[in-house]
Amino acid sequence: MAPQLTSDPAEQIIVALDGMAPQQALAFAAAMPELRWVKVGLELYVAGGPAVVQQLREQGKRVFLDLKFHDIPATMAGACRSAARLGAELITVHACAGAEALRAAQTAACASAAAAGFSEPTLLAVTVLTSWDPTRFAAELAIGEPVATYVPRLAQLAAAAGIGGCVCSPLEVAALRAAHPEPFALVTPGIRPAGAALGDQQRVMTPAQAIEAGSSQLVIGRPITAAKDPAAAFAACCAELAVQSE
Ligand code: C5P
Repeated sequence: MAPQLTSDPAEQIIVALDGMAPQQALAFAAAMPELRWVKVGLELYVAGGPAVVQQLREQGKRVFLDLKFHDIPATMAGACRSAARLGAELITVHACAGAEALRAAQTAACASAAAAGFSEPTLLAVTVLTSWDPTRFAAELAIGEPVATYVPRLAQLAAAAGIGGCVCSPLEVAALRAAHPEPFALVTPGIRPAGAALGDQQRVMTPAQAIEAGSSQLVIGRPITAAKDPAAAFAACCAELAVQSE
C-alpha cells in the first residue's frame, strides 16, 4: 500500500543527493531542516553503504533508496528485505525483472519493514530508462514494441504484481495516471523550475506542471543541489507547488 498522498509541498519534493561524497551529502541534508525526503542513488550508496541511509534517517529525513534492483526473484527479495530493514520508504526495482520477482520483492519488503517496526515501504518500478533513444532501444534490445506502449505495459505488469508505483518521465505521467489512479505512486524526475538550466535533461516539466499532470512526488537534483542557495531553491519549488494547490 502506498503512503498517504499529501498536498504538503515539502512532502512532494525528493532531493537527489547525487555527485556528493557521503560526508558532503550528510552535511548538505543537515543544513536543510525543511527538507523531508532525499534520494540515495547508486553513486552515494556504493560510496557510503547502509550507514549513509541510517545517518540520513537519524537526521529525520525520509529516504528513497534508488538502487534499481534487477535480479532473480530470491535475490530481489533479499535486496528489498535489507533495504526495508534500513528504513528506506521508497525502493526502486526494474519492472522487466518480471512478475514473480516483483511479487517476491514486494512481499519481502513489507515483511521486513513490519518486523523492524517501520510502516510499509513503497516499491517503485522503473519501466524504460529515459536515457534510451527509442530507435536504439528497439535495435539493441530487439524489442519490437514501441517504447510508448512498452512503458505502460511494464507499469501494468508491476501494478498487477502488487508494486505500489512507478518512476516515470514527466511526459509519461498523464497516461500512466489515467491507467493507475491514486494511491499508485508516480515519482517523476526530469523536473526543472522555470528558468533553471536543463543540464542533460531534455524532456522536462516544471514542478507545478508535473504535479498537475498526476505526479505524486518529484525528484529534483541539480536545480537544488547545485544552486548557490540550496535552501532557497528548495523553498522556491515548495512555494510554486503551494501556489498551485491554493
Ligand atoms: O539533477 P537532476 O534533477 O537531473 O536529477 C535527477 C535525478 O533523477 C538523478 O538522480 C537521476 O539519476 C534520476 N533520474 C532521471 N531520469 C530518470 C530516472 C532517474 O534523471 N528517468
